[in-house]
Amino acid sequence: MRVGVLTGGGDAPGLNAVIRAVVKAAIRNDHEVLGIMNGFDGLLAEPLTSPLGLPEVRGLVRRGGTILGTSNRGNPFRSRQQTETGTWVEVDRSGEVVANSRALGLDAIIAIGGDGTLKLSHMLWKRNLPMIAVPKTIDNDIVATEATFGYDTALGVATDAIDRLQTTAEAHHRVMYLEVMGRHAGWIAMGAGLAGGADVILIPEVPFHVSAICDHIERRRKNGKHYTIVVVAEGATEAGGSQHRIASSGSEDGQRLGGIADWVGAQVSARNNLEYRVTVLGHLQRGGTPTPRDRILATRFGTAALQAAMNGHHGVLIALRNEQVIEVPIDQAVEGFRSIPLDGDLVSSARAMGVCLGEQR
Ligand code: F6P
Repeated sequence: MRVGVLTGGGDAPGLNAVIRAVVKAAIRNDHEVLGIMNGFDGLLAEPLTSPLGLPEVRGLVRRGGTILGTSNRGNPFRSRQQTETGTWVEVDRSGEVVANSRALGLDAIIAIGGDGTLKLSHMLWKRNLPMIAVPKTIDNDIVATEATFGYDTALGVATDAIDRLQTTAEAHHRVMYLEVMGRHAGWIAMGAGLAGGADVILIPEVPFHVSAICDHIERRRKNGKHYTIVVVAEGATEAGGSQHRIASSGSEDGQRLGGIADWVGAQVSARNNLEYRVTVLGHLQRGGTPTPRDRILATRFGTAALQAAMNGHHGVLIALRNEQVIEVPIDQAVEGFRSIPLDGDLVSSARAMGVCLGEQR
């Protein structure tokens, strides 16, 4: 068997560990692995591929990023091209991906990526490509799996940041805001906020009221607590408001999420006149060495993906359910996002700790 493997979308710690697991398991079973470079872009025009053997994956279990490169802009069904008059048009180049995959003799294509890559894998599977998808995102919000690798590492980075902000906040009697990733779901904000003992946690699942945050800070002051830690997911919104975006040359629509912590800080300070500072953690959450938990999950996902290939199971997504790694039909993974359940014990624990979620009381 010849197995293609690619990584798509934003990177997450553990991608390399999946690649390593696929290659090691394949070699043990006398199969060949071809690395496809830069997501699905590597299957356009002249394919960009590289054979992967044991030397190429040595030491990869602990390395962040992806040796295959990635892109969160490459959609072969809507590839942007400049016309002779200089305008940009979208062209369907999925036929090239299909033709190149066949020409390369790929018996299975393992695509490791987030919601965008999973959707593309589903569409290509419908075009009869032998797709096997492996979910990844630090946001932990893919609907068909209870966990994704990368989340645990991001959680550690965000928790460490809160620990560090606590001491400086206390020293200066300030309100400290930490903006973390979390486009559709607040897993990082909620997890790190609870682990770091944050006072206010704002997540996309719970639209917030500025007045509720002000009241909470005021109550703390009356109780002799002259500093406050506020963790804000980048996708959090004010009740009745919309997500905050900033210009970004490197994204599909020229914009990306960002700026919500700054905005909340300014709104709150305008009312209570307290000094505040904002830290945006950004891509520090995605970089660096994966935690043991992420390495283990990535290794389990990689070996399960290779097993699916050996079994001839295509159109599947590798997922974690009830602590077991299983295969689920890929169409289960493409609609919606896995949000924090508002009636679950994560939220009730936060409330029991006296954390303000920005709700009106
Ligand atoms: O991986 C998902 C994510 O971390 C989102 O939370 C965030 O909005 C996005 O990636 C940013 O990615 P980039 O800056 O690479 O476009």
